Amino acid sequence: MYVLAIETSCDETAVSLLLEENGKVTIVEEEISSQTAVHEQYGGVVPELASREHLSNLPLLADAVMQKSGKRYQDLALVAVTKGPGLKGCLLIGAGFAKGLCLAHTLPMLGVNHIEGHIFAPWLATTELKFPYLCLVVSGGHTEIVEVQDLGRYRIVARTIDDAAGEAFDKAANLLGFAYPGGARLAALADAHRPSGKSHFRLPRVMRESQGFSFSGLKTAIALLVKKHERELADEKVRGDLAWAVQESIVDALLFKLQQALASSNITQVAVSGGVSANRYLRERVTELHGVKAFFPGARHCMDNASMIGYVGLRRFQRGERSTPDMDVIARWPVEEI
Ligand code: KG4
Ligand code: ZN
Repeated sequence: MYVLAIETSCDETAVSLLLEENGKVTIVEEEISSQTAVHEQYGGVVPELASREHLSNLPLLADAVMQKSGKRYQDLALVAVTKGPGLKGCLLIGAGFAKGLCLAHTLPMLGVNHIEGHIFAPWLATTELKFPYLCLVVSGGHTEIVEVQDLGRYRIVARTIDDAAGEAFDKAANLLGFAYPGGARLAALADAHRPSGKSHFRLPRVMRESQGFSFSGLKTAIALLVKKHERELADEKVRGDLAWAVQESIVDALLFKLQQALASSNITQVAVSGGVSANRYLRERVTELHGVKAFFPGARHCMDNASMIGYVGLRRFQRGERSTPDMDVIARWPVEEI
């Protein structure tokens, strides 16, 4: 069974063709077009520009995926599309395109929750992950720990109060002079200057008391440090040392919450997903946790992608779920607890 998946919730236009055979899911073809270059100069994603990019890129990517695979739209069993959360105009482009395809080729459609996609992204890389597991979702817009009991059965253990982990990385990167989104570049600088002992910079240990994830205090502390050491920070090594302190502080906060969650449950599997799960140091620290098996998405599936949307769409479709042609998109749609 072939499933075409579409993701347009933010600034990545992505299309993927998945094949399900005897319960096993493989990626036949996938294409991602990132809009980073378009938004970089504005210091963040400009929704209207993002929508326009999706509008011109999506049909090209879909045709490229189908052509490379040698399949025709008529061969599809399902079109899965991100229904939310995300930028409304962007979601509408994806949903409108999916509806058009389904109408033209008489295909069923299913709208998928983007965060649920991230929660299942590690399944694209392994057959060993089983329910239940704790999923640390760390992306540009979300930070949460979800106890995943089954597809569609979740318990939210901790949620973002203010900035998400990716935002914390990006804002710190911006203070260090990197263009948006600087998270990965800050991480690369930190890794290149990893100190043998501790960093010379001291940042507060955040989120020890709060119920959910909160990075706003850390952001203020970084801003103050950057101001205080403005001159020294012209030196690449000093910048690297501060980048390391930032990375350590964010990762440490994530690990603290994850360990708290593990201690209050008897779950022994942890998955990390979302853009920040590409972070090497975070992966190292999660892998080192005692008595816990760690799972991560492959490099292409940490960031927003269509394969994770296809995976969830396919599994829900197999349970008999369908969306109707009047499906609406949902800009704010937290993963619901059941
Ligand atoms: O999941 P994603 O592609 O988009 C959202 O759904 O939000 O995540 C993007 C986020 C950005 O904030 C980016 O800076 C961050 O992931 N990111 C990283 C790394 N690679 C991407 N943060 C830290 N270290 C990285 N290696
Ligand atoms: Zn995402």
